[in-house]
Amino acid sequence: MTAHVELQVGQAIFAELLSEARARTLLLISPLSEDDLRKQHDVLMSPIIWDLGHIAQFEEVWLGQNIESGGTGSEGLSGMFDPFTNPRSVRGGLPLPSLGECVELLAVVRERTLARLAGVSFDSDAPLLHDGYVYQMVLQHEYQHNETILQTLQLKQGEPYRAPRAYSPPAAAPILVESACDPFGNMVRFPGGLVELGTDNRSVAYDNERPRHQARVRSFWIDLTPVTNQEYLEFVEAGGYQKRELWSPEGWAFREKEQLAAPKYWTREGGEWHVRYMDRKGPVNPELPVCHVCFHEAEAFARYAGKRLPTEAEWEAAASWDPATGEKRRYPWGDEPVTPERANVDQLSFQPAPMGAYADNISPIGCYGMIGDVWEWTASDFAGYSGYSTFPYQEYSETFFGPEYKVLRGGSWATRPGAIRNTFRNWDYPIRRQIFSGFRCARDA
Ligand code: AVJ
Ligand code: FE
Repeated sequence: MTAHVELQVGQAIFAELLSEARARTLLLISPLSEDDLRKQHDVLMSPIIWDLGHIAQFEEVWLGQNIESGGTGSEGLSGMFDPFTNPRSVRGGLPLPSLGECVELLAVVRERTLARLAGVSFDSDAPLLHDGYVYQMVLQHEYQHNETILQTLQLKQGEPYRAPRAYSPPAAAPILVESACDPFGNMVRFPGGLVELGTDNRSVAYDNERPRHQARVRSFWIDLTPVTNQEYLEFVEAGGYQKRELWSPEGWAFREKEQLAAPKYWTREGGEWHVRYMDRKGPVNPELPVCHVCFHEAEAFARYAGKRLPTEAEWEAAASWDPATGEKRRYPWGDEPVTPERANVDQLSFQPAPMGAYADNISPIGCYGMIGDVWEWTASDFAGYSGYSTFPYQEYSETFFGPEYKVLRGGSWATRPGAIRNTFRNWDYPIRRQIFSGFRCARDA
C-alpha cells in the first residue's frame, strides 16, 4: 500500500520504498516486447529502454558516488544516459543495452544501493542525507520517469499498450456548490488577502518549491472541477478551433501548423467523438476531465468561456489555503497522505475519473480533484520563488526557469502518490499535448 513518505527516515523503510518503486516500474513494462521497449515511438519521447538505463544510472550517481563524495554539482550523469548531451529526439539512435542488460544494470545498482544503505545515517547534517533527502529524490525520480513512460505508452506505435488495470475509477457523484452568487454555476470564490505559498520542507520537496513565502492574491473565482469533456465538446462544436479571436497569436500559429481540431487522442467516428486511453477506446465520456490539451487550447477555451487560466499562486491558494483559519494544507483534504482511495492517482486506473468520484478530494474552499486525474495548466511561467537556491543540482529546475515553460499543478492519474503535493510544480512547453494535461479556469472577482 502507499506509504506515508513524510515520516519515513529509516533505512528499512527506504529499502522497502525503493523496491516498491521498482516493482511498479517493472509492472508497467511487463506487457511489452523488447522491440517495443527499444523503439522510439515518438520524437518527443525516449525509447523506454533509455528511461530504464537512466533510472539505474541516476540511482548509482546519487545514492553511490554523490553520497560518498558529498557531490551535488550536476545531475552527474554521463555517457548515453546523460539527458543533456542526449536530447530525447536522438535517443533512438544510441547504442542502447538490451532489455536483459538493462534489467541486470538496474539489479546490480540496486544491490549496491541496499548494501550502502546499511551504513547511512539520516541524522546527518549533510543536506543530501538529512531526513533522507537524496533517497526521497531518487524515489521521486523513478516515480516521475514512470509517468514519462506512460506518456510514451499512450503514444505507442503498433498494437496499443495492454494496460495492467488494477481498478476502475468510482462513479460520478454530485458536485456540491456551496458558494453563493456564482456567476457561472460552477465556480467558487476565493477571498483576497495574504496566503502562504511553497514550503520549507527539506526532506521531500524539490528546490523549486522553496522557500515558503507570503503572497497577496486578489479575490478570484475558480472552477469547482477541471474542465470536463462535456464543456470542452461544447467549445469544439461551437467552432472554438476555428475562431482566431479566442487564441493568442502563438496559439493560433500552432493550431494552424498542426491543424488542431480536438484534444490529442480524440477521433471522429461516425459523427461522434471518440477517445482512447491506452487500449480502451469509446465515445467521449462527458463526466471525465478533458485530457491531452496544450496550454494554447486551454487558454482558448478559457477565453471562449469568458474566463482565464488561474495563476500558479491562485491555483495553490485554492488547493491548499483555508481562508477561514489561515492554515495551509499539504494536500487539498488535509495532511493525510495521497492514496488511490483519496484521489485518482497511482497509474493503475489508466484514465481520468468522473467528476466528484472522490468525495475526500476537496480543498478548503471546495474545489474538487486538485490532486490527480489531470495536470492543470496555469497562466504562470516557470520561475524560481524569491529566495530560491539550487539544491542539489541545477539541471532539475534552474536550467528550465524562463518564459518558454508554463507551470502545471496537481498531478494526474499517472502520477505516483509520493511525487505529488499542493506545492509540487511541474512545467512544460505550452505546445505539449502528450502529457496528461487538462485545466480549470478562473476569473477576477
Ligand atoms: C519535472 C517532469 C519536467 O521529466 O523533465 C526527470 C522530471 N527531471 N528527470 C522531466 C525529471 C529529471 C522532469 N519534469
Ligand atoms: Fe531523469
